[in-house]
Amino acid sequence: MKQPTAPRPEKTSAANQGGAPHIFRPWALVVVVLLLAIMGAPSARGQVPGAPSPLLPQPTELHWGTGRLPLKSALHLQIAAPAVPDPAVRPAALRTLARLHRGAPARPAKTPGPVLQIRYGRAGQLAQPGEERYSLRVTPGGVLIDAPTGLGVLRALATLEQLPHAGPAGRYLPEADVADQPRFAWRGLLIDPARHFLPVAVVKRNIDGMAAVKLNVLHWHLCDDEGFRVESKLLPRLQQVAGATGYYTQAQVREVVAYAAARGIRVVPEFDLPGHTGALVAAYPRLASNDSIKEVPVRWGLLNIAIDPTKPGTYPFLDSLLTEMSGLFPDPYFHIGGDENDGRQWRHNPRIVAFMRDNKMLKAGTTDVDKHQLQTYFNRKMLALLTARGKTMVGWDEILGPDLPKEVVIQSWRGAKGLNEAVRLGHRALLSNGYYLDLNYPAAAHYAADPLPAATPLSAAQQQLVLGGEVAMWSEFADSVIYDSRVWPRAAAVAERLWSPQATTQNVPDLYRRLALVSTQLEALGLQHRRAPAQLLRQMAPAGTLGPLTTLADVLEPVKDYKRHFQGFKYTTQTPLTRLVDAAPAESDVARQFGATVDSVLAGLGAPVRPPALARQLLQLRAQLLRWQAADATLRPLLLASPALSEYAPLSTRLGALAAVLLERLTQLEANQPALPVWQMTARAILDEAQLPAGQAELAVVKAARRLAGL
Ligand code: ACM
Repeated sequence: MKQPTAPRPEKTSAANQGGAPHIFRPWALVVVVLLLAIMGAPSARGQVPGAPSPLLPQPTELHWGTGRLPLKSALHLQIAAPAVPDPAVRPAALRTLARLHRGAPARPAKTPGPVLQIRYGRAGQLAQPGEERYSLRVTPGGVLIDAPTGLGVLRALATLEQLPHAGPAGRYLPEADVADQPRFAWRGLLIDPARHFLPVAVVKRNIDGMAAVKLNVLHWHLCDDEGFRVESKLLPRLQQVAGATGYYTQAQVREVVAYAAARGIRVVPEFDLPGHTGALVAAYPRLASNDSIKEVPVRWGLLNIAIDPTKPGTYPFLDSLLTEMSGLFPDPYFHIGGDENDGRQWRHNPRIVAFMRDNKMLKAGTTDVDKHQLQTYFNRKMLALLTARGKTMVGWDEILGPDLPKEVVIQSWRGAKGLNEAVRLGHRALLSNGYYLDLNYPAAAHYAADPLPAATPLSAAQQQLVLGGEVAMWSEFADSVIYDSRVWPRAAAVAERLWSPQATTQNVPDLYRRLALVSTQLEALGLQHRRAPAQLLRQMAPAGTLGPLTTLADVLEPVKDYKRHFQGFKYTTQTPLTRLVDAAPAESDVARQFGATVDSVLAGLGAPVRPPALARQLLQLRAQLLRWQAADATLRPLLLASPALSEYAPLSTRLGALAAVLLERLTQLEANQPALPVWQMTARAILDEAQLPAGQAELAVVKAARRLAGL
């Protein structure tokens, strides 16, 4: 974001810059300039009513004026549509108006008043780059959006929805001038209804969340070992057997695709092949490489099940499947997965090994068979099937190899290295490494991952092949109840990374400030990310413990990375996700704020002159520590007595002990007393223990506690 300056010279909008199709006719320019003159341009002087920016993602250019447009009464909608209007624009504008006005009385059509004026050149083309530019101007006289395409209008409306401020005289839009376009054309969210089925309502509300932060590709991971989630008319055992725990009817798929398109979002389906096919093989055993799979698997983990790419019957089956499925999804891209097949089922089948030998699929300079060559053989067949249906194939980075045709798009989940390798080999590529929300890392960590970091080794031409990235939420540990809470608001950090100019998005505290605003916006849109964990806590809290249990849950996080698979608790697809770990936030706000206060206090104590805020911050810390101590005193006996919660009693105890030791430390610091070695020894032991997980959750405050303790 730039500091407020004079309004930009009368370029009509960013939409006219760069190489995008130039849709503005001279007469349109005159009309726009006249309108702006009537509405009044933002002033450069005086107050900055809109700052600091509430926008997420941060726009390319933003200038605040000094005026306000009150939202007391409804704006008149005026759409100057092109000859062939974009059907998404009017409904989207009406949704925006309803959200802006939150039930304000409609103004009779003839009453003069401020307008929401929209101008655009043509319908947007979803999968084309360069379609999302817009400019947005808010003045006391109204709002003006102009954009080359309807897609740009949708993005402008998303910006407009984040602008309202609450003032003493009611809500208003600050005077502002925005020119904006995305850094990357492909900004995805992967959702996984295969491990836990996600009903249509969950998918739709996540699409609403995506639209709010300008994500534009829903990557729908529709099958995996534990389920196949789309109705097939040709292969009905797919839903009868592989989708027995939930599937989308074809009508529902169409409904979701249309819902997404109306919000400027593409839907790219993924049918993971040849690995991750336990459910497929259970439904159609004739595809199997070995006959050990009789039922749809119910345990998580790398099963290394893969269909047999050497049987002639495999391809007519896949032909039917892809014909039917590609017909359901209009997007030109189609994802075939391709990940995590270590080839063990192929190596253990003498017939498949013989096929590999007969076809010289051998590791260079050896007589060992090479599963990668067999997978490339399979991928080429898939590519032919998809190309015949007009689809561009996408696959995970495991499918990359020198023999893979260049038109295949590579999605890198294993490392940024894979992205760069794919691009060097001439493929277009997407980054998902660094964006796995299921690993429970903080938003700041995801924000730091960049498909094209400042130090990228790629040439300018190679950089053009990087389409963007996708944030991913795999659902082994997220069912339809808590799914939103694992996605939001952290996904918004990645949305900004992929939309906004790199140079304007380096301020992590400011990211968190805006994530809190977006979180509230998402809640108003119907996302359950705040409500669902609170509801779980209400359901599990023994009488009288909701307050202290919430205090404890607020500083817990699930263990990071893939550790939840390996801490002694056996999960199946049917294990209820209703334990304290499931109500714990993926990233604890309380812990982050505690850490920030600790750092301010330590800096204040170390300053030559103590800052005025120090006394208040010390009081805040003391109050927080006393709250943790009191929560443990109430909770511990009740947790121990509760079969469902007793596994978390150690975490309560450790939080209480940590609080006690930090209260002592505060007293030392306030009195300017050094910590004695014996105190340090005890404190270190307490903090070491506080770091241990229980029930696959851990205390998120230990690092900050160590800083405060000076240990
Ligand atoms: C993946 O996470 N196996 C794509």
